[in-house]
Parts: sequence; structure tokens; C-alpha cells
Amino acid sequence: MDGRIRWDQETHWLKAGIAGNGAFLNVNTPDGRVNPMTIAWGQVGIVWGRPIFSVFVRKSRYTYECLQSAQSFTVSVPRLGELADELALCGTKSGRDLDKVQACGLMLVPGRSVDTPILGQCGLHYECAIVARAQFEAPDFVSKTIHRKYESTDLHQITLGEILCAYITKGSANV
Ligand SMILES: Cc1cc2nc3c(=O)[nH]c(=O)nc-3n(C[C@H](O)[C@H](O)[C@H](O)COP(=O)(O)O)c2cc1C
Repeated sequence: MDGRIRWDQETHWLKAGIAGNGAFLNVNTPDGRVNPMTIAWGQVGIVWGRPIFSVFVRKSRYTYECLQSAQSFTVSVPRLGELADELALCGTKSGRDLDKVQACGLMLVPGRSVDTPILGQCGLHYECAIVARAQFEAPDFVSKTIHRKYESTDLHQITLGEILCAYITKGSANV
């Protein structure tokens, strides 16, 4: 299959990706680059009657900083098992210190509906317009077990993006 899909059509692929080596959350940087960050947390669903992709980003990430001024983000999911080294680098190095697109040889392809590119080597893509941000604060954690997972004040912010389009490309790490 190649082309546009419904937002909820390939959730098994999305789930396997983020539960496996992760997926790329791509955001434009204030200085005109694109910063891919590996994510393992993410949800698609309906909020305000709209299809929404929610991502969870800690305050300490450069991605967090970029998301404060960005209008959109994209999520690019590799074909299963592909781009493991690139996901590892984008999940351990910060865009503050290096250009991860260059370092990994990632191919930027212009978004169809948003000003954030997608990654050409990936197969499944979501283009999202940012509609809301919500910052977790310590008192928000009803569950003490969950609260204990945070040793610091580096709490996640949830960014909700309306999925303007989702699609599959033939993109593969092997071509
Ligand atoms: C598999 C994997 C999944 C990750 N998922 C998340 C996530 O969902 N949210 C988050 O804030 N950090 C997550 N991280 C950590 C960031 O990807 C990592 O700190 C990254 O270097 C931050 O890059 P940045 O400073 O360029 O934003 C994950 C890391 C890995 C390896």
C-alpha cells in the first residue's frame, strides 16, 4: 500500500514502532533546522471531535524548546526493525549539540499539509498542527507509583497535534 490513509488505519504499525525501537518526532528549530527526537510515548485518538496525535516530551529536551514556538510537528515511523541506529542516536543525542539529520543521513521531505518535513527513509507518516500544550505538574499525579518515576522536576509536557494527514510511502532504509 502507498498513499493516504485514515489516521486510525495503521495503529498496529505505530504501536509496534513506538513499543519497539521508537519513532521520530520531527520539529522545526528556531534557527531553521529540523530536529528529530526518538519517542516511545505517543497516542492517537479523538479529542474535540478531531483526530489528535499526543506526544509527551520532557522539559529538558531541545525538542521541548522547539515545540514552544513551532506551529506543527510530524511523526515518522520506520518500517519494523529499520533505522535502529538512527533511532538510537536521535534518542540519546541532543539537537542542541549536533544536527541529527546530518549525523544520521536522514532525508527531509517537505510536509504535504504542514511546514515540518517528514523523514524519507520511514514508511508511515503523520502531519500534525499543534492545537494545545499541557504541562504535567507534581500534584497532577494521582498515582504515587507514577509520581515516583520522576526523580526530578523534569516533567513531561503533552503536545496535542491535530492530524491533518497520515500516509504511507515506499520509503525504506534499504533503498
Ligand atoms: C526508545 C526511546 C524512546 C524515547 N521516548 C521519549 C519520549 O517519548 N519522550 C521524551 O521526552 N524523551 C524520550 N526519549 C529520550 C529522548 O529521545 C532523548 O533524550 C533525546 O536525546 C532528546 O533529544 P533533543 O534534546 O534533541 O530533543 C526516548 C529515547 C529513546 C532511546
